[in-house]
Amino acid sequence: MIPELRSQIPPTMITFTPTTADRILQLRHQVLRPALPIAEVIFAEDQDQKTRHYGAFNKQSEAICCVTLIPSTWHGEAAWRLRAMATAPGWRNQGIGTGMIRYLFKDLRASDQVRPIWSNARVSSAKFYRELGWREVSEQFENGNAGLSVQMLRERPINERWKQTKLFTTEIASLRSQIA
Ligand SMILES: CC(C)(COP(=O)(O)OP(=O)(O)OC[C@H]1O[C@@H](n2cnc3c(N)ncnc32)[C@H](O)[C@@H]1OP(=O)(O)O)[C@@H](O)C(=O)NCCC(=O)NCCS
Repeated sequence: MIPELRSQIPPTMITFTPTTADRILQLRHQVLRPALPIAEVIFAEDQDQKTRHYGAFNKQSEAICCVTLIPSTWHGEAAWRLRAMATAPGWRNQGIGTGMIRYLFKDLRASDQVRPIWSNARVSSAKFYRELGWREVSEQFENGNAGLSVQMLRERPINERWKQTKLFTTEIASLRSQIA
């Protein structure tokens, strides 16, 4: 399905915004590790300045969707690790998760921080990510409390990658000289 068509929530009802770990911790806990102590959903990187937390909030300012991006690497290249994506049960399948991913990319683009994004995704949510441009890059594996998982990667779109490489500039210069 085209991602644009998946997000059908009237924008006035929901606010997508960068946020802090504290504001999304309860939602993370409720959705991802409800049977375990809340400490299980606190990450060592949560308070790092470069970690990015995003939340979607309803009219009552309650967190209804969240996701966290942690600076990481992918095969030696700067990357993000996506963790703890969660939509509150009553708000699922309405395009909010899709809206969150679209918001996240908008924010990364605005700050020139688009990089490959990898994640250890629950197999049950792999289709969600696949529809949004991720692909499986590992066999399925048991991932502790998260259960059956698969590593997924969303590569940087090629035009965004080109913008930042010297090769691009060199190639353009070479093409220009050929045309001239
Ligand atoms: C995975 C998760 C975050 C998705 O959040 P969401 O807000 O439901 O996401 P969306 O509504 O954008 O998309 C979910 C599905 O609803 C469908 N959908 C979106 N808008 C829709 C609409 N208006 N009408 C009907 N279906 C719709 C999408 O096509 C999508 O289907 P797919 O998963 O088969 O591709 C959510 O299911 C969740 O929190 N799951 C439990 C925790 C989890 O597994 N997190 C991921 C950890 S790796």
